[in-house]
Amino acid sequence: MKRVYIETYGCQMNVADTGLLYGALKADGFEKTTDPAEADLMLVNTCAIRENAEQRVVGRIGELKRHKREGDLLGVVGCMAQRLGDDLLDGTRHVDLVIGPDGYSGIGDLVARASDGERLVDVEFKSWEHYEEITPELDGGVSSFVTVQRGCDHRCTFCIVPMTRGPERSRKLADVVAEVQTIASRGVTEVTLLGQTVNNYNDGVDDFGQLLRAVGQVDGIRRVRFTSPHPNDFTDNVMAAMADVPEVCEHVHLPLQSGSSRVLKRMLRRYGRDDFLRCVDDLRNAMPGITLSTDIIVGFPGETEEDFEETLSLVNEVGFDDAFTFIYSVREGTPAEKLGDRVDPKVAGERLQRLIADVRTIARKKNVALVGKTAEVLYEKEARRGDLLQGRTRSNKVVLVERGKDSIGQYEEIRITGTTGSTFTGVPNPQRRALTVV
Ligand code: 5AD
Repeated sequence: MKRVYIETYGCQMNVADTGLLYGALKADGFEKTTDPAEADLMLVNTCAIRENAEQRVVGRIGELKRHKREGDLLGVVGCMAQRLGDDLLDGTRHVDLVIGPDGYSGIGDLVARASDGERLVDVEFKSWEHYEEITPELDGGVSSFVTVQRGCDHRCTFCIVPMTRGPERSRKLADVVAEVQTIASRGVTEVTLLGQTVNNYNDGVDDFGQLLRAVGQVDGIRRVRFTSPHPNDFTDNVMAAMADVPEVCEHVHLPLQSGSSRVLKRMLRRYGRDDFLRCVDDLRNAMPGITLSTDIIVGFPGETEEDFEETLSLVNEVGFDDAFTFIYSVREGTPAEKLGDRVDPKVAGERLQRLIADVRTIARKKNVALVGKTAEVLYEKEARRGDLLQGRTRSNKVVLVERGKDSIGQYEEIRITGTTGSTFTGVPNPQRRALTVV
């Protein structure tokens, strides 16, 4: 049997796509290996969102090529493959295959041809592609990603994704439900629905609210999460489903990008500061106890000190539980590439540090207030430290609890005993000691 090794960079959808690639290649007689040295085929599933994401991949390709023996193949797949296409083949003679996110159905054929010595590129957009014929390989974890929508029709001026993942399209609700049923039948109880604008899901009949209801009803599914939503797409239907469906967890990752309406306009985010704050209020009303995380870019072209202070003030006003913060990175071919008023990198770096400091202070305050409270955790895996397990609450807080490996995959009511400011320690709640076996 031939062996395939895949290294995954970037977002959750890439993780899900890697599951598809393993599934497709399994059907072609490949088995998975975690050791690149023994692989006949090495794939790097890449991200193009920021320049440093691409640089990391370039470095990794340089390392992986050392494992190439006579006849082995090295392929670059994903968003960077889509963006660079032929240039990747021209850039290094060690790369045999370049396949964009819509080309995975044909991977078996492409690999066979590459084995015969061809060097191949497939970066064609297939606006109908949902990979329904591939059974994705599960990674053995207690939680699974399920792609419900691919591509993006927004044109946020900073973002490369519309150029790497093509037009937005939604899978049929019945296909999503069937996949969730299969996953649940394998003992997975938590799913995260994925889409670039996931709450704009619409298969022509059903919207995201209906999808949440349908997925929540699948036997065995106890938790439903989704990422990433757009603030404009929390319709009444979606909000009602979030409030009604007990499986939908009390956490939303809601990308903000900037707290300044002026900057948001230049980003073409299609909402202003007040719209975002209204969305946060609506979410908190629909789901009491909901936690919120976000993505923020600093140093977008034209961002002034006043604009940045608006971001800081919004971050403080909302009180995010967590935030992923980035310095703006120019992406070739995006509309923002043409914008003047670039922010001095030193200024952008200082803003990032100030933002991170505020984010941490807010998160710590929120998290300290949770000490002494109880919560249900799902045990995910062994923690790095000692004989502890890592559990996750419905609100997406990570709690370390002294439990043995055999509790992985189980749910338990715990009491939070401490926090580092970002993660927690906990003990089984004496009142509800029994593990809930699913
Ligand atoms: N520069 C910096 N950050 C970016 N993101 C997207 N494009 C860029 C860029 N050009 C960030 C956004 C998005 C997250 C996935 O990555 O915050 O929500």
